[in-house]
Amino acid sequence: MVARLGYHSVGIYELPLDPPPALVEARLPLTFRFLEPSELDQYCVHCPEVSRDEAASFLADGNRCYAGWLDDQLVSTGWIRRGPATIDSLGITLELAEDEAYVHNAFTGSEHRGYRALPALGTRLANAMAEDGCRFEIALVARDNLSGVRNAEHIGHVKTDVLAEFAVGPVHVPLARPKARVARFTRA
Ligand SMILES: CC(C)(COP(=O)(O)OP(=O)(O)OC[C@H]1O[C@@H](n2cnc3c(N)ncnc32)[C@H](O)[C@@H]1OP(=O)(O)O)[C@@H](O)C(=O)NCCC(=O)NCCS
Repeated sequence: MVARLGYHSVGIYELPLDPPPALVEARLPLTFRFLEPSELDQYCVHCPEVSRDEAASFLADGNRCYAGWLDDQLVSTGWIRRGPATIDSLGITLELAEDEAYVHNAFTGSEHRGYRALPALGTRLANAMAEDGCRFEIALVARDNLSGVRNAEHIGHVKTDVLAEFAVGPVHVPLARPKARVARFTRA
């Protein structure tokens, strides 16, 4: 959520999938696959940052959750939505082409952080999307979300644009307009 006072900046991160990124190996013996809708309760226990209603709405909107497992325990997860689609997030409306995908809500359980589980997951997801004919992954990351920025970089995403504004109450002053892909800037 974009706050209402002060300077706000969101980076647009892109990962070209032709060729897809080299695989990063986790320091845990993980297996990877898409989550089944019937496993949503297990997802919500693993990731308390996303409510069950929100997770169910992700599925209903055509998102899929890619997951890394340690035996039968969920370790890392990330959501992906392939275009064509309109994404509204962080005050930005993103128009996805048919061969683009939006990645969001990366999460590793606190007891398994620091083992490269998420980069292992993200690079495998990127390869799976490339095999499926997708040419770009796109992520939106707020400038102050340092974990999100590091995480995007570890998978291979490159910041291609920035959307910045200064907000004082209802007055929003755009400081930098996105040059590509972002069709419309919607105020928070
Ligand atoms: C960001 C996140 C997904 C990274 O997952 P991960 O599987 O731990 O990824 P990594 O193993 O590559 O570790 C990421 C960084 O945390 C550091 N780290 C090491 N041990 C850690 C621990 N116990 N707890 C937290 N971070 C740790 C790693 O060294 C690494 O630092 P670096 O960027 O300087 O190399 C995870 O920390 C998380 O779920 N955070 C909360 C949600 C979030 O911020 N998601 C990203 C925004 S979409």
